Amino acid sequence: MTEDLLLKMTGICKNFPGVKALDNVDFSVQRGRVHALMGENGAGKSTLIKVLTGIYHKDAGEIIFDGKPIAPSDAAQSQHLGISTIYQELNLAPYLSVAENIFIGREPRRFGLIDWKTVRSRARSILSDMGVGGVDVAKPLEAHSVAIQQMVAIARALSVEARLLVMDEPTSSLSESEVGLLFDVIRRVQARGASVIFISHKMSEVFEICDTATILRDGCLVGEYPMADLTKLKMVSLMIGRDATGVLHKKKEISRGLDDRRVVLKASDLTRSQRTKEISIDIRTGQVLGVAGLLGSGRTELARILFGDTAPEDGEIEIVGKRAHLKSPRDAIKLGVGFCSEDRKAEGLFPHMSVMENMTIGVMGELSTGGVLSRKAQTRIAQTYIDKLNIKVSGPGQRMSELSGGNQQKVLLARWLCKKPILMILDEPMRGIDLGAKSEIEDIIADLAGNGVAVLMISSEMEELIRSCDTIVVLSEGRKVGQLTAAEISEERIMQMFAHGSHADPEAVNAQ
Ligand SMILES: Nc1ncnc2c1ncn2[C@@H]1O[C@H](COP(=O)(O)OP(=O)(O)OP(=O)(O)O)[C@@H](O)[C@H]1O
Ligand SMILES: [Mg+2]
Repeated sequence: MTEDLLLKMTGICKNFPGVKALDNVDFSVQRGRVHALMGENGAGKSTLIKVLTGIYHKDAGEIIFDGKPIAPSDAAQSQHLGISTIYQELNLAPYLSVAENIFIGREPRRFGLIDWKTVRSRARSILSDMGVGGVDVAKPLEAHSVAIQQMVAIARALSVEARLLVMDEPTSSLSESEVGLLFDVIRRVQARGASVIFISHKMSEVFEICDTATILRDGCLVGEYPMADLTKLKMVSLMIGRDATGVLHKKKEISRGLDDRRVVLKASDLTRSQRTKEISIDIRTGQVLGVAGLLGSGRTELARILFGDTAPEDGEIEIVGKRAHLKSPRDAIKLGVGFCSEDRKAEGLFPHMSVMENMTIGVMGELSTGGVLSRKAQTRIAQTYIDKLNIKVSGPGQRMSELSGGNQQKVLLARWLCKKPILMILDEPMRGIDLGAKSEIEDIIADLAGNGVAVLMISSEMEELIRSCDTIVVLSEGRKVGQLTAAEISEERIMQMFAHGSHADPEAVNAQ
């Protein structure tokens, strides 16, 4: 048994001021296995990985890798040992090219000089092996979508022949087909005899790809289980430490009388190059309108147009009955539109500032009198949302960088909620958020709608849309190919629209 173990971590402890992030945790991974590391937001998953890879120094414990004790003091050392990691926060260089990002620090050389031609062609071949062809590897990374950036992080990890591949939420911005590609890659790595540690909040993926799961709760080990012995319900119950039936089987209330409500936003024939073609939508007070579509269907671009971040070439937008000329997000914000973007970093998360400052940055003006900011009011608002969204922090003054990924996400959502928008655009609001917290976010969306806020929600998880939305618009290749009312919404109907979308008769669509 022991010789089957590639990794054995025992008695790992890691404290941060005021938090026992890991308390005497044992964790081992067998050779050739895909091992899930599970737990709620803030349970200690990323911390355990960072201890393994030498980014954090453990306070106690022992790490045996391939039969030998190891104590890497930085990521380069752990990579040298054969541990390759994709972190939750993509640690890539946005201004360097795709190829450079894949080979940074390990560029193939010829006569001592970096051989750019080889770098590029190898980068292209790694990506096309992963099934992502057609990427311009000479272009800077930031010119590509978040999904491509994530694929680049994975390509980088794969380009070294690792014996242990660690993936901390690798699929959070991948489409379903890309997840399929990633799983093929994982199976190949596994067939080579290497092991994988897989962290994800998406249960279906964990059940599909993993053999074993270790569950953490509040920094402590709950146990290790073969996947075959677990059900989704049992797994979530172990993660949260109580029966999860109520969390998993909640019924949403269907909103009635939508047609009589006031239209908050009316978009007509929005068009912009190839990605947005003649899209018309209405969103009314208290309506939760979901936008479904495969990656590249134009979902995020539509959101950006409605938020004034991208100008349409044609078409118009009305907000509460008035023509809106949105030249920038500032114009949209003035009219009461909020936008929580899929890309945390781009949105301006200030890691060195406090949770409170990050949260109230958009309402500083309202909290000040005569140029003096009321700390008291700021703290009160921050505490309200910390409680409301159940954000795991030591207090409103904690630095943002010290929060777990999912909790940072909640702070960004709170930033918009405290501005009290009339239209809230949520692009992938559940990304990186644990199941319990997802159900809290669902409650918050329902609450917003109940208070008359119009909500536009984008998600690549159909289940999330079905659970929260009372109307779903389906996009395909930049076009609206259908709209479903609450009574019509089903996964099957949405899938059908994806499938037939691009060939749909536009007249028939408009008649719906
Ligand atoms: N650098 C740090 N300084 C202070 N506290 C930290 C630091 N890093 C992590 N923590 C705390 O340790 C705990 C565990 O965090 P960790 O990031 O490991 O959670 P996680 O299980 O990865 O959660 P998520 O699913 O949200 O990513 C949290 O309470 C977090 O706030
Ligand atoms: Mg994490």
